[in-house]
Amino acid sequence: MTTQGFTQLSLALRLKTETAALHERLDKLVTALDPFGSRANYGRFVAAQYLFQRDVEPLYASGPYAALIPDLAGRSRLAAAEADLRDLGVPLPVPQDASQGPGLPLPEGLGWLYVSEGSKLGAAFLLKEAGQRLGLDEHFGARSLASPADGRGAAWKRFVQALDGSGMAEEEQDRVVAGARAAFQRFAVLLARSYDLDGEPSLA
Ligand code: HEM
Repeated sequence: MTTQGFTQLSLALRLKTETAALHERLDKLVTALDPFGSRANYGRFVAAQYLFQRDVEPLYASGPYAALIPDLAGRSRLAAAEADLRDLGVPLPVPQDASQGPGLPLPEGLGWLYVSEGSKLGAAFLLKEAGQRLGLDEHFGARSLASPADGRGAAWKRFVQALDGSGMAEEEQDRVVAGARAAFQRFAVLLARSYDLDGEPSLA
């Protein structure tokens, strides 16, 4: 879209295209870790998810972000991940470093929220696997993979509309994309720690 002589890019589209390679590598990493091979292996995945949700939790509760995304508070999944760990009998993981969320400036934090919200789309597939292979569901053990009440597609569409309605200039959008890249990388590191992999993977 061209407005008053400059090109206004869709932020959501930029995020999707500019992080597609990172998503693909993360998807491959998750698959290689075989999270549905056993409940114990799945518990490690949920522990990483719990720590990632701990990173983004302050953003879900933050006024400036809520002003951009009206239904933000209800989208948090930290409590669901915690309940999953309880269901599975897995102790809450002890964080190895500080939560990344507090103090993130708004453009970058929006990228972190994009990664967290977008992961609910792929979670449809993960929920199915958790059901078929481990006998878990959105009421026990796989609450953090559950669909939003009004459906994954509708919740995602509203989030994308909020992103695109945020009116960010191109340089601010660059910072949102940088935040999303950092969030993908963070998830990979949390997975590596949770599965006791040697070293920390780079998705770059
Ligand atoms: C085996 C693991 C995964 C699979 C199979 C998977 C699969 C998918 C699929 C199929 C979509 C697109 C859904 C649609 O367009 O309707 C998607 C979107 C997305 N996923 Fe994943 N995903 C996985 C893991 C993750 C993880 C761990 C994260 C982040 C922590 C993540 C972040 C995202 C994001 C941000 C999107 C939105 C892309 C966009 O449309 O802008 N995914 N995923």
